[in-house]
Amino acid sequence: MGQDTATIVEMGLRDGLQNEPTPVPAALRAEWFNALADSGLNRIEAGSFVSPKWVPQMADTDQVLAQIRRREGLSVEVLVPNSKGLNGALQAGADVVSVFTAASESFNQRNINCSIAESIERFRPVVEQAKTAGKKVRAYISCVVGCPYEGRIEPGQVAMVSEQLIALGADELSLGDTIGVARPREIHALLDAILPSLPVSQLGLHCHDTRGQAIANIYASLERGIRTFDSAVAGLGGCPYAKGATGNVATEDVLYLLEGEGIATGIDLPAVARLGQQICTTLKRPNPSRTGRALTSQ
Ligand code: HMG
Ligand code: MG
Repeated sequence: MGQDTATIVEMGLRDGLQNEPTPVPAALRAEWFNALADSGLNRIEAGSFVSPKWVPQMADTDQVLAQIRRREGLSVEVLVPNSKGLNGALQAGADVVSVFTAASESFNQRNINCSIAESIERFRPVVEQAKTAGKKVRAYISCVVGCPYEGRIEPGQVAMVSEQLIALGADELSLGDTIGVARPREIHALLDAILPSLPVSQLGLHCHDTRGQAIANIYASLERGIRTFDSAVAGLGGCPYAKGATGNVATEDVLYLLEGEGIATGIDLPAVARLGQQICTTLKRPNPSRTGRALTSQ
C-alpha cells in the first residue's frame, strides 16, 4: 500500500485577507503567494473576483494573478460569485474557480444577496462556461453545522445542497463550518448524511477555529476518509458576513496533525511557520497558530 496523503487548500490570501481591516497591496499578496508555493503548497486560493464594494480587500485580485510565479502542478484558485467574476478569473488565468453558497437561507441573503435556489441558478452558466474553458470547479457550502442567524443546520439540508451542486457539475465541495461551532459528533452526523450519496474524494472540510475545535473536527473527518482540508497560514481569516467568526484553522496546526498521523502533504511545515510569523508581523496582528508560535519562538 502506498503512503496515505492529504491535500491542503491554502486560504490565507482569500479567506484570510478578505477580513483584514487594512487592504494588502497586490504586489505583497503575490509575494506571499510565491512564498506559500515555494513551501510546497500546490493548491492556493489567491483571491476573489467579487464586488469591490462588498469586499474591498479583494480588489486587484487580477493584479495578484498577473504577478505570481506559475509552475507545473501548482493550482491557482479563485472565488467567483457570478458570470462577471468568472470572466475576470478566466482572463487572469485561474486554474480552479470556486462558487459559493450556503446551507442557510439567511446567511446566503447577507453574503451574496440571494436565496440558495437563486444561487444555484446563478451558478449554472458559471459552471458551464468554466468547464468549457477547461477549468475545475469547486463549490463552497457555508454554515454546514451552524448559522449565525438560524442556529443549528440539519445535515439533511447540507446533503440536499451538496447533491444539487454536484449535479450542476462541481468537481469538489468544500464543507464550511463558517462560524466555527462544529464539534466532532456533529461532523460525524454531517458526513453520515452526505457520504452515502457522494464520493469522499469530492469532499473537503473548511474549518474556522472560533471555538478551538477545528483540529478535533479535522481528525474526525480523517477517520471518515476526508483528505482535503482548507486552512490558512497563521490562521488568518474570518468572514465579513459572519460576525464574531475568527480565522480558518491554521495551516501550520493541520500540517502538524497530519505529520503525526503519517499522512504526507509534501509541504515544508517550518517554512510555512516562518512565513506565518512574518505575515503576522507585517499585519501587526498576533499569531494564533500554536504550532506556528512553537516553531518560531526561540
Ligand atoms: P448584488 O449587489 O446583489 O449584485 O451583489 P449586482 O449584480 O446587482 O451588482 C452590484 C454591483 O456589483 C454592480 O456594480 C456590479 O457590476 C458589481 P455597480 O453597477 O453598482 O457599479 N459586481 C461585481 N463587481 C466585480 N466583480 C463581480 C461583480 N458582480 C457584480 N463579480 C454579489 C451580488 C454576489 C456581486 C455581491 O453580493 C458580492 O460580491 N458578494 C461578495 C461576498 C463575498 O465575497 N463573501 C466572502 C466570501 S464567502 C466566504 O468567505 C465563505 C467561505 O470561506 C466558506 C465558509 O467559511 O463558509 C467560502
Ligand atoms: Mg471561510
